[in-house]
Amino acid sequence: MRGASISWPEIERERSRLLKDQNEVPMLDLGAGSQSKARTVAEIAQSALKRPRHARALAGLASYLETAVVLELGTCLGITTAYLGKHATSVTTIEGNPALAGHAEDIWRRLNVQNVTSIVGDFDDVLPSLPPLQYDLIFIDGNHRGAALMRYVNELAPCLSEKGVIVCDDIHWSRDMEAAWDELIQENRWSLRVDFYEWGLLTANPSLAREFHRIRF
Ligand SMILES: C[S@@+](CC[C@H](N)C(=O)[O-])C[C@H]1O[C@@H](n2cnc3c(N)ncnc32)[C@H](O)[C@@H]1O
Repeated sequence: MRGASISWPEIERERSRLLKDQNEVPMLDLGAGSQSKARTVAEIAQSALKRPRHARALAGLASYLETAVVLELGTCLGITTAYLGKHATSVTTIEGNPALAGHAEDIWRRLNVQNVTSIVGDFDDVLPSLPPLQYDLIFIDGNHRGAALMRYVNELAPCLSEKGVIVCDDIHWSRDMEAAWDELIQENRWSLRVDFYEWGLLTANPSLAREFHRIRF
C-alpha cells in the first residue's frame, strides 16, 4: 500500500483538536459499539477512529486504485472520510448518530473537503435507497457484528464497479466477525481476497486471479 507517501497534516491537526475536546456527545445504540448514554468527543476520537497509519493506508489504496466513487458505512467524526475525500472524486458516508454527523460536517468545512455527501440514518434503512451509483471503494466500518457484515456485503456487492473493492473493517474484532469473514472469502463471486488483519479486502475484479493472501502492514 502507498500509505507511507500520504500525509495530511491539516487532517491530523483536526484529530489532535478532537482528542482534547471534552464536550459530550449523546450516544445511540446502533451497532456493536459503546452502550453508554454519552461520551466525550475526545473518548470517541481516541477509540473509534482509524489510526493515522491506517487512514493513510486506506487513502493510499484509494489513490492506487484511482478511486472515483467511494461509499463509507460509519462516518463517526469524519476523519477517515476526510482522507478518502482527498483521494476520490466523491464520497458518500452514512452515520446513524446525528450528533456525530454534525461534528463531521463541521470538520469537513474546516478542512475545505467539499466532495462528501453525508447521509444520517441506520445503515439498514439507508442502503436500499442509495443513489444507483457504481462504487469503486466501499469501506464498511460500523456495526461490527457478523450477521450485519454479511448483510451489508450482500446488499452492496451489486453496487461495486467492475474493478471495485469492498474493505471490511475489524474482521478479527470478535469470533462472530471472524466467522463472517471466513464465510465471505469462500464465496465464488470474489477473485482477490486479502486479509490485512486490520481489515479484509474483497474484489470481483475479473482481471485478477482468484487468490487469497494474508498481509500484515
Ligand atoms: C468505528 S466508527 C467509524 C470510524 C470512521 N470510519 C473513521 O475511521 O473515522 C463506527 C460508526 O458507525 C456508526 N454506526 C454503527 N452502527 C450503525 C448503524 N447500524 N447505522 C448507522 N451508523 C452506525 C457509529 O455511530 C460510529 O460512529
